[in-house]
Amino acid sequence: MTKKASAIANSNIALVKYWGKRNEDLILPYNSSISVTLDKIYTHTTVEFSENLKRDIIIINDKEINTQDSEYEEYVGRFLKKLRELYPNKAKNLNAKIVSRNNFPTAAGLASSASGFAALALACNEALELNLSKKELSILARLGSGSACRSIYGGFVEWRKGIFEDGRDSYAEQIATKEHWPDFRIIICITSSKEKKIKSRAGMKQTVLTSPFYKAWLETIEEDIRLVKKGIIEKDFKLVGSVAELNCLRMHSTMITTKPPIIYWNGATIEIINLVLRLREEGIECYFTIDAGPQVKILCLEEFVKDIVERIKEVNEIENIIITSPGDDAKVTNEHLF
Ligand code: DP6
Repeated sequence: MTKKASAIANSNIALVKYWGKRNEDLILPYNSSISVTLDKIYTHTTVEFSENLKRDIIIINDKEINTQDSEYEEYVGRFLKKLRELYPNKAKNLNAKIVSRNNFPTAAGLASSASGFAALALACNEALELNLSKKELSILARLGSGSACRSIYGGFVEWRKGIFEDGRDSYAEQIATKEHWPDFRIIICITSSKEKKIKSRAGMKQTVLTSPFYKAWLETIEEDIRLVKKGIIEKDFKLVGSVAELNCLRMHSTMITTKPPIIYWNGATIEIINLVLRLREEGIECYFTIDAGPQVKILCLEEFVKDIVERIKEVNEIENIIITSPGDDAKVTNEHLF
């Protein structure tokens, strides 16, 4: 039996989005991406590997996962298979018990795969004593879910797509710590807590295969990466916000133009978009970004949070608002969940 190990990893939100894989098995992206790691929204995971377990046991948010499910196969099952292939001496003949909990309600409608696989990668590294570097941890997390490779780091993070076929150069690196820009805020507006219809994984596949705009999207990425990175380093909020907003709209334009179309927005999503545009006209500097779901994340600086939150109340159908700041690196904890 290995030692029991636990880790906590924050979620992240992309400012330049990852959308589309050049290699689905290794989760290698067509494009690089940049994110900000979010404090307050995290996954806490405990793992233990043992020869005494008859099979893997996975409990997420107090619910045991059926390891025959296709969703399990596609996510945690796939990750464990990769882990055993990569580190046969350490993990091959051992089964795992994994207990994982998101500190945000599952019904919050927020993606949990980024924080989930970053926490799982770090907890496995500890339990199996793999002694992985941050770079190797980021690669391991990426094999669970692409966006998870960015959650290994806190602050502002870039995932370079890499060029090698085996993925050895496709991992995340920190651009700046959270201390670099402490007054950066992300206001998460939950417009629907229902589970999204099409997961990112399936959605991006459909986009790559069928959207005529996918190629055009890829052509805009490198410039967005350059500008957002520059904006982060120089703390130029207008530059970061405006490029992030346009990048989000371009990604959604590729989704909307797939066959059949994928439209993640609902009525409240569009109301908030319009509110953000109005607020800007009034001199309140803020921008929106949206992932593969209907929630809107408003980017702003601390000085405008109060005004913006006040105005969001104008929008009907908002279920919840969470105000977050740049968060920390994923970390090991002695608090075990079993
Ligand atoms: C729109 O990382 O969830 O949030 O690699 O298939 O697990 P898989 O996808 P995932 O996709 C995230 C897509 C996004 C943009 C982003 O976070 O960069």
